[in-house]
Amino acid sequence: MPVQEPFGLQFHTVSVVSRERLLVLGSSGFLGAHLVREGAERFGCVHAASRRPELYPGTLPANARSVPWDARQAMENVKLFADARPTVVIVAAALSRLAACERDPDVARELNGAMPGGIARLARDFGARLVHISTDLVFGARPPLGERYGLTDPPAPLSVYGHSKVEGEERVLEANSQALVCRLPLLFGNSFGRGLGASDALLAAIERDETPVLFVDEWRTPLDVGNAAEALVELALGDACGMLHLAGPDRLSRAGLGREVLRSHGFSDEQVDERVRCRTRAELGLESQRPADVGLDAGDTISQLQTPLLGVCDVL
Ligand SMILES: NC(=O)c1ccc[n+]([C@@H]2O[C@H](COP(=O)([O-])OP(=O)(O)OC[C@H]3O[C@@H](n4cnc5c(N)ncnc54)[C@H](OP(=O)(O)O)[C@@H]3O)[C@@H](O)[C@H]2O)c1
Repeated sequence: MPVQEPFGLQFHTVSVVSRERLLVLGSSGFLGAHLVREGAERFGCVHAASRRPELYPGTLPANARSVPWDARQAMENVKLFADARPTVVIVAAALSRLAACERDPDVARELNGAMPGGIARLARDFGARLVHISTDLVFGARPPLGERYGLTDPPAPLSVYGHSKVEGEERVLEANSQALVCRLPLLFGNSFGRGLGASDALLAAIERDETPVLFVDEWRTPLDVGNAAEALVELALGDACGMLHLAGPDRLSRAGLGREVLRSHGFSDEQVDERVRCRTRAELGLESQRPADVGLDAGDTISQLQTPLLGVCDVL
């Protein structure tokens, strides 16, 4: 089938290396906004779909188009695919807040479990490549087999969020054997002034004169959100399928990450001690819901990627 020029736009820069069409589901989110920007550099056009597209920060790239889409209206999905005719779909839409999932487990299962499975089936039927975003929080109830969680570790979540994301992974891979599921670690970095993600949320809380809690006993392998998006777009243009882990090289506690973020914004150690409360999960009664250590082993992925996965201090 001949590929028609989408939206009648001219593609103007040498950095557009592909005429392929990317559909980003969840384009207004912390990660989604970066996927749209990175995708626009590599794809011929990008369809940026989310429930409230007006939340997309700033101006869409010239070769991107905003599409209102409600993931809970499954009937809309066929029309979405028929209109966008994507060659690649990245599912970054989710109920991503742990507390929201605990409050409303049915919606968590619907958005994080069932929805990705339905999208994976549609991608298969429309002949589009499917990349689904999952999380390190599918782990935590059992220790890893090695030093960090690898691809042979069976999922064992603690939270409603983690359980719903495991269901999403399973449904995607059942529905579409060519799909790629990427588990991501805690993301930090630029949220374009929206206070989203591990670093901007901390800075925004301090700006509001709050004294946020940073856990000293929650260990993560954090990754910059822009770096994650660049790696995901590279993977989306490749042909890897099944499960992959993306993660940063550093293993840090959330308190350690918070300290690095604040130091990079000019806070002295004394100011950091005044502005945040470093606590254990037990002190806040959250041990049963929040895993201590979900560090991901991304060694297999790194060997397939040209995009380097950067350490916290390389980015901040
Ligand atoms: N952030 C992290 O540290 C992290 C770590 C590991 C994995 N992940 C995974 O990465 C993915 C993206 O996370 P994120 O942090 O970018 O989440 P986010 O900022 O909460 O963004 C979620 C996106 O989903 C959309 N969405 C939610 N409900 C929707 C609905 N009913 N219909 C259509 N769109 C809907 C939101 O659109 P509206 O705002 O318009 O509702 C938003 O665009 C998720 O799969 C998450 O599990 C994130």
